Amino acid sequence: MLADSSWSPASWRTHPVVQQPAWPDDVQLKQVLEALAERPPLVFAGEVRTLTNELAQVAEGNGFLLQAGDCAESFGQFSADKVRDQIKVILQMSVALTYSTGLPTLKVGRIAGQYAKPRSSDTETRDGVTLDSFRGDIVNGFDFTAAARRPDAQRLMHAYEQAAATHHLLRSFTKGGFADLSQVHRWNLEFVGTTREGERYEQLSTEIDRALRFMAACGIDLAQERTLHEVDIYTSHEALILGYEEALTRVDAISADWYDTSAHMLWIGERTRQLDGAHVHFLAGVENPIGVKLGPSASPDDAVALCRQLDPDQQPGRLTLVSRMGAGKVRDLLAPIVAAVRDSGHPVVWACDPMHGNTYQHESGYKTRHFDSVMDELSGFFSVCHDADVWPGGVHIELTGDDVTECLGGGDEVTAADLDNRYETLCDPRLNARQALDLAFRLSELMRA
Ligand code: PEP
Ligand code: CO
Repeated sequence: MLADSSWSPASWRTHPVVQQPAWPDDVQLKQVLEALAERPPLVFAGEVRTLTNELAQVAEGNGFLLQAGDCAESFGQFSADKVRDQIKVILQMSVALTYSTGLPTLKVGRIAGQYAKPRSSDTETRDGVTLDSFRGDIVNGFDFTAAARRPDAQRLMHAYEQAAATHHLLRSFTKGGFADLSQVHRWNLEFVGTTREGERYEQLSTEIDRALRFMAACGIDLAQERTLHEVDIYTSHEALILGYEEALTRVDAISADWYDTSAHMLWIGERTRQLDGAHVHFLAGVENPIGVKLGPSASPDDAVALCRQLDPDQQPGRLTLVSRMGAGKVRDLLAPIVAAVRDSGHPVVWACDPMHGNTYQHESGYKTRHFDSVMDELSGFFSVCHDADVWPGGVHIELTGDDVTECLGGGDEVTAADLDNRYETLCDPRLNARQALDLAFRLSELMRA
């Protein structure tokens, strides 16, 4: 329920706002936003409420959140196969986690709307030429040309349409037989199958098969168990371009509350979490579950103030705090924040993004992350939560189903010399499917410890 009666989907416009494109054509922008406001919702309020309830279970320690997907989804590289492969990795990771921890894995993709990127600088200079920074395909083009980098409001509509198609694919893949637990072997991607992680996954799939046969032999009618044949993968993205989010925000006829129907869950990034800022104001008014990234500059007071603003009713499942401190800092910086939030009584989900605090520029020029730093941050996060007696509720990971070489290390070691081979990301370096599966196995071990 709304605490602030002056809130409306447009009221963010009276607050200071950062990270918005300088759209060059106001008339075109207005037309596109009006057209978007007429389009059907991408998700439904009932689904969003179910996700909040599942997150509430996670907050209470009865589940684990796996939020994962692309750093920046691309318009140019969109295909059903790519979405399917992304789903395969998420399903594999979730099977590895659930099998070894015995806890349900709540799956939320960074998918079907993750098109906007916050940037540390408004412009980029190469060889003396300065252009607008690339802000994601929803705003401008990746190529370093004046034409590509000019923000184009028509891209907002393209984003909506691709998000709609992706939501459709997600529903088909997760409900249409592909995610049936009897298909568990088929989720191994070709380039993963023969590696150590792939073989470990094969063994696990064989054990699952055996367990299913055992249950059937005991007379359990497996065909009747919906949860064996379908999964839920919810959608999420950073709610960055507020005009777009506003246009997709609608009143739910049943509850009379506002829902941002662009995705099930939205998060506020490290660069847009100002307490008096437009992003926090906007998301305070919608009923969707909200995530907030907390980086090294966040203080315990900031975290508690964000909780008060975004979760005034202390509703379990409403708020997920995503720590992204960096491996070297998480143990020192996160502990006082976790303690302050715990003592404030807000029943948040604690999640760890072990990616964004561990990015660095390799001497070859590529932006990368090392798998060992990713694991080190996760391990620091678990020990902080353990010491504070709070549930380490989840992880937030950038990954792809493609065989890319963007992050270093992992079981099937990617080396610096490999970076040049398949570095395909539009923004940050992602774990490939092998590294992601390796992470899931190691994470299960951390959780069991
Ligand atoms: C991201 O999640 O892609 C991102 C930009 O993260 P952060 O806001 O934590 O830097
Ligand atoms: Co990123």
